[in-house]
Amino acid sequence: MTDPQIVLTERVQQALAHAFGPEHADADPLIRPSQFADFQANVALSLGKRLRRAPREVAEAIKAELSDFPGTVEVSGPGFLNITLDDSWIASEAQQMAADPRLGVGMITPSQTVVVDYSAPNAAKEMHVGHLRTTIVGDSLARLHEHLGNTVIRQNHLGDWGTPFGMLIEHLLDIGEEAAVAQLEAGMGTEFYQAARVKFDGDEAFRQRARSRVTTLQGGDPTTMRLWHVFMDATVRYFNKLYELLGVTLTNADIAGESMYNPMLERTCDDLEASGTAVMSEGALCVFPPGFTGSDDKPLPLIIRKSDGGYGYATTDMAAIRYRVHDLKADRILYVVGNEQTLHFKMVFAAAKLAGWLPDSVSAEHIQIGMMLGKDGRRFRTRSGESAKLMDLLQEAIDRASAAISERGYDEATRNEIARYVGMGAVKYADLSVSHDSEYVLDFDRMLSFTGNTGPYIQYATARIRSIFRKAGIQPANVKASIVLAAPAERALGLHLLGFGELLMQITADSEPHRLCNFLFQTASLFSTFFEECPVIKAGVDPETRDHRLALCALTLRVLETGLDLLGVPVPERM
Ligand code: ARG
Repeated sequence: MTDPQIVLTERVQQALAHAFGPEHADADPLIRPSQFADFQANVALSLGKRLRRAPREVAEAIKAELSDFPGTVEVSGPGFLNITLDDSWIASEAQQMAADPRLGVGMITPSQTVVVDYSAPNAAKEMHVGHLRTTIVGDSLARLHEHLGNTVIRQNHLGDWGTPFGMLIEHLLDIGEEAAVAQLEAGMGTEFYQAARVKFDGDEAFRQRARSRVTTLQGGDPTTMRLWHVFMDATVRYFNKLYELLGVTLTNADIAGESMYNPMLERTCDDLEASGTAVMSEGALCVFPPGFTGSDDKPLPLIIRKSDGGYGYATTDMAAIRYRVHDLKADRILYVVGNEQTLHFKMVFAAAKLAGWLPDSVSAEHIQIGMMLGKDGRRFRTRSGESAKLMDLLQEAIDRASAAISERGYDEATRNEIARYVGMGAVKYADLSVSHDSEYVLDFDRMLSFTGNTGPYIQYATARIRSIFRKAGIQPANVKASIVLAAPAERALGLHLLGFGELLMQITADSEPHRLCNFLFQTASLFSTFFEECPVIKAGVDPETRDHRLALCALTLRVLETGLDLLGVPVPERM
């Protein structure tokens, strides 16, 4: 069972080689879905030019080579090839897909080790909406790589270190450990931070304490380290509540925060300096990767050690990239981080290459995440103008989902579960369905709508197929009938489903989960047309037709369930 577009590409390439010589075997036949046939191949136009032959003549020659093709080939216009596949070929491919536990989805060979750096909220602040997308897109990428057989190493690069921790620890002592932990666990990190900040700005004695606390923290003083752990553990417990609600696969084992690299920073600097990759400039240790200049045309530094001897964000990332290549043995490293950090990552990758820490065999990729905007087109904020709390946003989605289904007569427990799945599905799908580097507007009404390219629409289609099987009194896995594609709507759905495996390969290579959203949206739409035109369990449908249609329903259901799972979107049993 292969994607028809791939099968066709190979067949046309063979035809080209045979008709015009082996040097044409790698030419792209330019196969695209068409409104006049299943597919159109436009290669005859460009090839005709190159061979100085009439494109129609070239097209006819290709057609002649395709005489044993399971479908019809027609030459039209100036030399387009219109290709229509035989129904029986589509059906038998769909049948093979249904018989395959992997639904025709291949494995990446040889399998790769992929480090996915994602989520990475900052502990000194409330996890805000800015981290929602990096979390959700990163989690989907991790799921996709795992599904295709890669070894995935999740790295949650928490912002868990730095000078603010001096004042945070002093504030924790002021209000008492118990109160602090309660506050942090409840997600009041921003309030905690702000209260510390006010004292830091207005109270000289507090400022002194905070400063010397930074020194004892950096020196690894046991009492201070214990307090740091108290702070971090409570914060992480709150992050975990969010991850759990969102159904994100990150666990404590995936935490590899900035603090983890502390013991490596000195050596990182020394090695960079010894190899001549980094040089002293105005008292700071800097790498000047070629090709980066500031507005004044002067070379731009990546500062590895500040002039006061302190380490920064870039130091940690240099240590991290070396660790990921050398210790974790990554083949690919995906940094799922906001696009405002593009320059930072370009410079880190370039500096790591200079240092010889990032060989050509390893690809480091910044998966740029576009900003989430409010309806006013500006960075999403709460009414009071602060960055919005993630938990509040998620709760609002759940409440709205609950209201939307309130009249469907479910008991409270069922309604709560559906509301949670639909709310989280809506938020996650909205995040994923737009290409990851574009901005997108957070619009509850749109994301929760039961029509259009939304999570709830696809969840609903999936739940509807499940309900068909409940009514038919049979498990989808127990359908023994074959797939027969008689009606146009059946054929269109069957043909579409065949593209699933190749799509997953492509979007995993290119880090484009939004294309999976598109595919599932089309699946749900084609299913809904099929279901309107081809009744399955209505009176008057003969048992044989019913069983063939149930077989197509079962395949569609598995594609939807697998696809949604790879996006991390949950599906309620009923809706
Ligand atoms: N904590 C950082 C932030 O919120 C993101 C960290 C991304 N990962 C990295 N290796 N720098 O901006």
